[in-house]
Amino acid sequence: MTEKQNKTEQAKELEMLMEAFDQFNKASIQLEEKYAIIEEEAKKLREEVQEKNVELSKLSTLLESVLYNSNSCVIAVDEEYNILVKNPVAEKLLAELGDDKFLVMLEKYSRSGVFDHEEDERTLRVSVGLLDTEEQKGYVYVINDITHLKNLEMERNRDEKLKLMGEMAANIAHDIRNPLGSIELFASLLERDLHKNESGMKLTRSIIKGVRTINAIITNILIFTKEIQLEKTEQYVADIVDDVILYMQHLMRDKNIRFKNLISEDDKISCDKELFKQVVMNIIHNAIDAVEDNGVITMESFTDNSSSGFSVNDNGSGISTDMRKKLFIPFQTTKAKGTGLGLAIVYKIVKAHDGNITLDSDGKSYTTFKIELPR
Ligand SMILES: Nc1ncnc2c1ncn2[C@@H]1O[C@H](COP(=O)(O)OP(=O)(O)OP(=O)(O)O)[C@@H](O)[C@H]1O
Ligand SMILES: [Mg+2]
Repeated sequence: MTEKQNKTEQAKELEMLMEAFDQFNKASIQLEEKYAIIEEEAKKLREEVQEKNVELSKLSTLLESVLYNSNSCVIAVDEEYNILVKNPVAEKLLAELGDDKFLVMLEKYSRSGVFDHEEDERTLRVSVGLLDTEEQKGYVYVINDITHLKNLEMERNRDEKLKLMGEMAANIAHDIRNPLGSIELFASLLERDLHKNESGMKLTRSIIKGVRTINAIITNILIFTKEIQLEKTEQYVADIVDDVILYMQHLMRDKNIRFKNLISEDDKISCDKELFKQVVMNIIHNAIDAVEDNGVITMESFTDNSSSGFSVNDNGSGISTDMRKKLFIPFQTTKAKGTGLGLAIVYKIVKAHDGNITLDSDGKSYTTFKIELPR
């Protein structure tokens, strides 16, 4: 190759190199531009993620606050019943019931739905939801104590039943009373005619006694069904009790019952005296029936800021849980000769005074009725 040819070749190579540099420069400018765009987008994305994180954290704080401030017990568990999350109300309920009882209750309701759970004389409404995400399976429980609601419902049902049964009883009582009067009159005439026939007289006396017993029951029913008209005055509890005990002492004597009178001389109640004698009489009558020989019946009175009243305690047979639920419903009795009206009348009179009657019994060895009246 001549020198001239050689130079031309070099010039060509230089030109190609220059061109390559030129293209490289262009490509690198394009790259820089693209990089700037990408960087801009990455910045935007970072900002969006940051915003989402802030939102997420706010939402999580809100959810936490909802959970922790809820008045309901909220608890989530996995499928093996390991606790995942619980709020303070759940912690309290757990402490009250104990771990075992609590878990037994949760395991009993391992399907979605709403269930009423009875536990230690209270009712818990258990709402169950399924936890079903890719990461976590289990159950969410929302539990509320609805004992108060249930009691109100029972009270309302009782009031409705009282009303219906009262209407029915009044009609029956009215219809029975008239023929009963005639039977008693005819039996008295018969007794007079049979004055020399000892066994005949005995029979007619039995008829008269039976008729009078039925009459007494009907009188009770009529007191029960009548609209109560109160004549309220301030009364010493001791006076009411003394009157009643005087009237009933022969019954106590027959059974060797000791009456412990712990009524304070100063305690007063604002009441209709005659109706309240009836209240005390019915409760003491039940206590007399409930105790064995040598039983003890104790009465106490009390007065506090807002109420005053008294309690009657006996060491008799106690009242079963089953009986307790229907105690104030008329005609509920466990006695062969009872009418089941005594406590229904007590309840009606106490309610007419805006008072309250409560009962405590272990179902086997004692019963205490407490009556409170507003002052
Ligand atoms: N002190 C008590 N101890 C045990 N059981 C009681 C007591 N008081 C009430 N009971 C139960 O409650 C039931 C209802 O009492 P309630 O006075 O209303 O009717 P009764 O006594 O059966 O009949 P009545 O009073 O009309 O003659 C009784 O039959 C009894 O089973
Ligand atoms: Mg009775």
